[in-house]
Amino acid sequence: MLDEGLRSLIALHGVGETRSRGILIVDDERANLTVLRSFLEAGYTVHEAQSGPEALKIAKEADLDVVITDQRMPEMTGVELLENLREFKPDVAGIVLTGFTDPPALISAINRARVFRFLKKPWQPDDILEAVRQASEHVYQARAIQKLVTLLARRTKELDASLQEIRSTQRQLLHMERLGTMGRLATGVIHDLRNLMVSLGYIEGVLQQKQVATDVMESVQVGMQGVDNLIKTLEALHQFAKGGRLHLEKAKIEASQVVQDAIAISRMDLNFRMHKVEVNVEEGLPKVLGDRQKLTQVLVNLVRNALQATAQWRSISIEASAQNRRVIFAVEDEGPGIPPEVRDNLFKPFVSSKGDAGMGMGLYMAKLIVDSHQGEIAVLDRPQGGARFEVRLAAAAEETS
Ligand SMILES: Nc1ncnc2c1ncn2[C@@H]1O[C@H](COP(=O)(O)OP(=O)(O)OP(=O)(O)O)[C@@H](O)[C@H]1O
Ligand SMILES: [Mg+2]
Repeated sequence: MLDEGLRSLIALHGVGETRSRGILIVDDERANLTVLRSFLEAGYTVHEAQSGPEALKIAKEADLDVVITDQRMPEMTGVELLENLREFKPDVAGIVLTGFTDPPALISAINRARVFRFLKKPWQPDDILEAVRQASEHVYQARAIQKLVTLLARRTKELDASLQEIRSTQRQLLHMERLGTMGRLATGVIHDLRNLMVSLGYIEGVLQQKQVATDVMESVQVGMQGVDNLIKTLEALHQFAKGGRLHLEKAKIEASQVVQDAIAISRMDLNFRMHKVEVNVEEGLPKVLGDRQKLTQVLVNLVRNALQATAQWRSISIEASAQNRRVIFAVEDEGPGIPPEVRDNLFKPFVSSKGDAGMGMGLYMAKLIVDSHQGEIAVLDRPQGGARFEVRLAAAAEETS
């Protein structure tokens, strides 16, 4: 009898009929075949063979559920036939008709050929019919289970794939959602900063008239440059959050200029003044085609991370060099290196190990900017400890004049 749970699984997964109702009867005596056929024919498609080898040949072609075989045949015994049949039709049930009643021999034969049933001669048609009914039920069940297992394995795989997809879409949505919120917040901040800029501009005018000392004037101007930069960065973030793209204002710019701008801005950070900062810009670097303000922002973000990672009064270094028609900007520090828990997602938004002190936007913005310049940004471990970030940009084509 089919188990209740199995029956409902089979219905649920639409396994359907797995039986062919094909039966192969094998006996070296033709008369026996005729008798067997006479009462099986009504319910089954009956194939017949007069020897083991002939039976195997037929079994290769025909769809079968059950094989009924005589045990004693000249070329091959019934058990041997079933053993051979196992090799290519493992799910067919075998019934062996025998006069041989020695129990240990029977058990070993059952194990070897996995015979479904032995029927002792002389048998009655009803015994055979009942054995065949049970055998085909057994076959149906075994095949249905096999089909279910395959089906379930396939569905599990499919489900797993869709689950992965859902997870990654969800992560992406979450990022865009949070970026959108940041973009909206940025609008408010930009507004306030513009007002501040107006006030600073006014102060600058007043100071100019009063002819104050140049260093006071300079710090106001550096301050204004810093605020201007901040506004542009926030605007970039706002734009990106809205449209998913960055707007670049490209021009041929000097690499050394980007380094200088970045240092001027970073200098406003108190932390900058509490470190040794080594600057190394190679002479005669080629120009790059890029957005000066945004590339400066990339370096500023890298410098800020380097300063934050390095203990006070230790060094960080900023360099620009040329390599195979590329300009390499590098920022190195003497800190502990990248924490392993953020390493794989370093350039993704909101990834930070700094708790409230970091938003995890610095490297994300840096990568967005470098990517939109078709450049590369990478992190390397310094052999002597600390991190080295490199930004690689193609050199602009040389002037033809
Ligand atoms: N030079 C560095 N040394 C060690 N870890 C670093 C360095 N630069 C970045 N990281 C790691 O990468 C994380 C992400 O850096 P990212 O600049 O994107 O965000 P943040 O500095 O945490 O916050 P934000 O820049 O938005 O203020 C940092 O939190 C830190 O764990
Ligand atoms: Mg940072």
